[in-house]
Amino acid sequence: MKPTVAPFPAARLRRTRVSPAIRGLVRENTLTTDDLIWPVFVRDGEGIEEPVASMPGVLRRSVDKIAEAAIEAQALGIPAICLFPYTDAALKTEDCAEAWSPDNLCNRAIRAIKAVAPDIAVMTDVALDPYNINGHDGYVVDGEILNDETVEALVKMALAQAESGADIIGPSDMMDGRVGAMRSALESAGHRNVSILSYSAKYASGFYGPFRDAVGASGALQGDKKTYQMDPGNSDEAMRLIERDLQEGADMVMVKPGIAYLDICYRVKTTFGTPTFAYQVSGEYAMIQAAAQNGWIDGEKVMLESLLAFKRAGCDGILSYFAPQTARILNG
Ligand code: PBG
Repeated sequence: MKPTVAPFPAARLRRTRVSPAIRGLVRENTLTTDDLIWPVFVRDGEGIEEPVASMPGVLRRSVDKIAEAAIEAQALGIPAICLFPYTDAALKTEDCAEAWSPDNLCNRAIRAIKAVAPDIAVMTDVALDPYNINGHDGYVVDGEILNDETVEALVKMALAQAESGADIIGPSDMMDGRVGAMRSALESAGHRNVSILSYSAKYASGFYGPFRDAVGASGALQGDKKTYQMDPGNSDEAMRLIERDLQEGADMVMVKPGIAYLDICYRVKTTFGTPTFAYQVSGEYAMIQAAAQNGWIDGEKVMLESLLAFKRAGCDGILSYFAPQTARILNG
């Protein structure tokens, strides 16, 4: 639809910007606490909150502290938390068996959250990298990332998470066929109401650097992830991946990273009209925090503006490390 504009001075477009009241009336998009998913890092131990150097303001928390964070999130009205484990190097193996252990950090954290904050939806990440000795999301044999063998392992991992009480399974591995395999395994096991939020269009990005520090995967990673994560030059391919994942039974889809990929978010939402999420990843968070700490930008302003931009692009929600800070501001 083409907006109609009368000739000047009949139309003075500044009229609708004249006061906060009028601006509020005509505002097209808003950010609310309902739009936020808070990614958190889990580590072992008790009573531990440890700063992540490359992500100022972000902590690795032991399971008891994760439970406290969930209570805080619930009080702030944040609907969902997404868990990322910082796994002890001694537990990383070639077969990644820790990934589907019922007692791994992620699964213990799910149960701990469910016990104290039942209203929070718990989302998980499904990929082998936190458990893999070589830092890749899939099994590596002779330098090749194996697809089908990895999918089998991911299905076991997703089932263990659902068994522990996860509400939303988030495959972030970019293997082919994993959404369908997980969906049918979840159905067979009776987990009919567990959602899949697929990291469908996930790019091989430099913006993940600080995250790999946070989960202790940077040192381990050999090579890059370009044979499974997407080429930043592609857009049509993202549409094919989204369509494929929806056909395999994804309930919601994600574009990742965020700000540099808003064109993809917009295209996904207008093409499929499906619940669409974006991940404002670690590097985006770190850039905003670093500039703010140097006094080069107003951190709060840029945080809120960046999150609103996702809504304008068509996203229904955003995974953001800024979730609690944002919710505090939105709640006044
Ligand atoms: C693991 C995973 C990654 C992120 C989320 N899940 C890193 C990667 O793919 O290397 C990145 C999140 C962030 O940077 O904040 N598959």
